[in-house]
Amino acid sequence: MNEIKKIAVLASGGDAPGMNSAIRAVTFSAYNFGIEVVGVLRGYDGLIDWEVMELSLDSVRNINNRGGTMLFTSRSERFLKPEFRKQAADNLRANNIDAVVAIGGDGTLRGAIEFRKEGINIICIPGTIDRDVACTEYTLGFDTAANTAMEAIDRIRDSSVSHGRCSVVEVMGRKRGYIALWAGMATSADAIVLPEKWSGDFNSVIEPIKKRHIDGRNSYLVVLAEGVTDAKELADLIQEKTGIESRVSVLGYIQRGGQPTAKDRMYGSLMGAYAVEIIKYGKNNRIVAIKNDLLIDYDIDDAVNIHNNMLDTFQYELSLKLSE
Ligand code: F6P
Repeated sequence: MNEIKKIAVLASGGDAPGMNSAIRAVTFSAYNFGIEVVGVLRGYDGLIDWEVMELSLDSVRNINNRGGTMLFTSRSERFLKPEFRKQAADNLRANNIDAVVAIGGDGTLRGAIEFRKEGINIICIPGTIDRDVACTEYTLGFDTAANTAMEAIDRIRDSSVSHGRCSVVEVMGRKRGYIALWAGMATSADAIVLPEKWSGDFNSVIEPIKKRHIDGRNSYLVVLAEGVTDAKELADLIQEKTGIESRVSVLGYIQRGGQPTAKDRMYGSLMGAYAVEIIKYGKNNRIVAIKNDLLIDYDIDDAVNIHNNMLDTFQYELSLKLSE
């Protein structure tokens, strides 16, 4: 086993609360092992352009409570091309980097799978508010994003109740409905519209609202996952078919920012430290994951072949019962 002397860490894809805790833990853990750490700026783009900063313990001391990522991030188009991945690998070799820790979501993982072919040891940490990396039960940022969405929806509900309106609130999640499910259940939504369960039937949302309206209710909340259907179109249809004045709120990037929750700081710290341990003890090309609340790791090629429909059936069915 070769001695590990120097590693690099980067964040890639959409920023997620908790990434800074992972960067901090990578840095502290590496230094405890006598390993030097280089922070790569702007994700895979920074590997290509060799835009880096030395990470000292002092440089990461006060970042646990900060949203975003201190190393910045990008969705690198160039990294999709072999010639730029080769350039990135040459930079790492020229700077004697023994391994890279990449914090990000599905796109980061797929980039890593191609990058390993350049002979680079890359270890992924799942970080995305969408919770859409199938091999792990948790991805950094989800808890903060779900809480932010919940708090925003609570406020929207106050206004909705005051006016006797229906609020359609669109939340993020890319192709997954976890933020919608959690924020929707936590705010007692009348309907939660999820990509995994959407049949295309608008009446499945409208009819229950109509019935409740006849029964005397006066305000309604629909939490819609992005990408399922157009929020304005849904609100207009609700208004047209029920006569209830309807409004749309798209929460957008406020879900990505803000102070990480304790859970995101804790899991960021655990995953960061674990990534360095597996590098130190000779593992190559792994992704850190959570299973049954324990830290484990998978080969990155195996990780993308793990499929599950991600949405917990019990949670989903409960959400239906609780909105009746
Ligand atoms: O992956 C995180 C996420 O915020 C998704 O929920 C959303 O679909 C996407 O990123 C937005 O991407 P961008 O930052 O490129 O606009």
